[in-house]
Amino acid sequence: MNVKEAIFARRTIRKFTQEIPREADLLDMIDCARVAAYGANMQPLKFRLITDAAETDAVFPHIKWAGYLPDGAPKEGERPKAYIAVYGDTDIRGGFETDAGAAVTSMMLDAVDLGLATCWLGAIDRDKISAVLNAPGNLKLLYLLAVGYPAQDSRIVEMKDDVKYYLDENGTINVPKRALKDILI
Ligand SMILES: Cc1cc2nc3c(=O)[nH]c(=O)nc-3n(C[C@H](O)[C@H](O)[C@H](O)COP(=O)(O)O)c2cc1C
Repeated sequence: MNVKEAIFARRTIRKFTQEIPREADLLDMIDCARVAAYGANMQPLKFRLITDAAETDAVFPHIKWAGYLPDGAPKEGERPKAYIAVYGDTDIRGGFETDAGAAVTSMMLDAVDLGLATCWLGAIDRDKISAVLNAPGNLKLLYLLAVGYPAQDSRIVEMKDDVKYYLDENGTINVPKRALKDILI
């Protein structure tokens, strides 16, 4: 798989098989984040694996899934068995958002290559999840990345007049993307 194929194959997945991703694969993803582009090369991010069943169960209720779908949250038996928590280390710098985007994107693309699927999670209750994960005070929780083997399909469709993703009759997520001509100025 080349880079462009991985970019187009990567889609957000919210239903997973119950197979736990290999720790070596999760660490491989973090290793890709390690070498991402960072402003001033400050590398202010830290990462934590969440694969312990008690922890994955404890963080799940504090995540909002699929805001555009009426019933988009994974059900029992579809929930992720692994997450990667992304933190900003305030001892290194204060602004993290752009750096986190580069890091998460690198991890998501590596996941595609590893046969894994991801869901980048920003609609999370950071206070409650931070309490579960109990990180040192200098680490600010930015995002979770759900990681697992996909139990649903997703595909890009041409955008007509709405950005909202939707499920088709097969349960496949259809993700409208603007046409190339429409984003060129
Ligand atoms: C910063 C950010 C935060 C996101 N937060 C959530 C979230 O909390 N819950 C969720 O189900 N999806 C979340 N997503 C996934 C988006 O809904 C998804 O990327 C978008 O619908 C496009 O689909 P695609 O990733 O397959 O292209 C987030 C994506 C980004 C970039």
